[in-house]
Amino acid sequence: MSTIFVDGILKGRVVFVTGGGTGITGGVARALAEAGANVALVSRSLEHLEPAAKAINEARVRSLSVSQGNSAENPSFGEAFAITADVRKPEDIEKAIAATVDRFGKIDIVVNGAAGNFLCKAEELSPNGFGTVVDIDLKGTFNVCRAAFDQLKQNRGQILNISATLHYLGTPMQLHVSAAKAGVDALTRNLAVEWGRYGIRVNAIAPGPIGDTEGMKRLVPEPIKEKLKQRIPLGRFGLIEDIENAAVFLCSDAANYINGAVLVVDGGHWLAANRLI
Ligand code: HXC
Ligand code: NAP
Repeated sequence: MSTIFVDGILKGRVVFVTGGGTGITGGVARALAEAGANVALVSRSLEHLEPAAKAINEARVRSLSVSQGNSAENPSFGEAFAITADVRKPEDIEKAIAATVDRFGKIDIVVNGAAGNFLCKAEELSPNGFGTVVDIDLKGTFNVCRAAFDQLKQNRGQILNISATLHYLGTPMQLHVSAAKAGVDALTRNLAVEWGRYGIRVNAIAPGPIGDTEGMKRLVPEPIKEKLKQRIPLGRFGLIEDIENAAVFLCSDAANYINGAVLVVDGGHWLAANRLI
């Protein structure tokens, strides 16, 4: 894959990425590594994390052989390593943060992509079903931000939360995740204000429907896919690459004065009336 950004724009940065083994956030982790950052990939399952870390490390080796200006000691592609942790468990996250600092020396950027979701009518949703999604998406995001605070303060770092657009309107069968992501947006804005004074920027990306992802598989049944696509003003589902590019931009110095923003990357989907999801 070829990047549209200048080589090495995140060189020297260290990123802690939850949900970084799969899907959209797996793509974001890869893109941040391609931009030069070292990345710690964090989630519950090594089966998700190890192949993703391996792919990044192999791409790193390939980048050395094609790029003459980069020596083995100074490659433009970052390195990845995998750490298991459940974002619902603050003690897991503290250990994962410590392991990242041990391995890469610091943390500059946190990407909160860990999430859980399923379709369920509100009247059929159990308290534990609602609570589980809020625990992963919202409380998990807080747990990670809180545990990374000392590192972020020390390094004038930044946080990038992966939100959604579901809660901008009332989305059927998505009460739990809408409540959680509305909370993620609130957390983004509040931390931007409280931690901005330490030089920590806090932003979010709100993806629309992104093709070929677990989220789409779970939420959009095959028969309504085409109808949904027609309602997206740009006429296509998002690509993981669309979110990668937004993430590299927000994490780069080009976004140095952007703080508290929720960047919608959805082809204009949520603004269009009569949406299906
Ligand atoms: C109703 C359900 C359910 C379902 C689980 N629950 N699945 N309720 N419909 N399909 C309920 C269970 O019955 C239980 O409540 C409670 O949720 C916890 O379930 P567990 O299976 O014990 O939870 P856990 O093992 O922790 O798994 C979490 C999970 C799981 C969220 C349920 O699906 C998961 O690990 N997901 C991660 C991957 C994922 O979801 N990716 C998609 C992200 S997409 P009771 O009362 O029975 O105890 C995304 C998209 C946003 O976020 C926007 C897209 C447009
Ligand atoms: P995905 O691949 O299933 O990503 C979710 C990730 O979260 C997985 O890597 C999973 O890894 C991790 N995770 C789940 N529970 C966890 C926990 N308790 N602790 C640590 N990690 C956990 O789904 P996706 O569709 O690409 O979604 C990625 C992000 O984009 C999510 O934040 C989602 O809400 C957001 N989003 C997606 C869409 C879309 O169209 N797909 C639209 C809007 C927003 P493990 O199973 O290994 O833990």
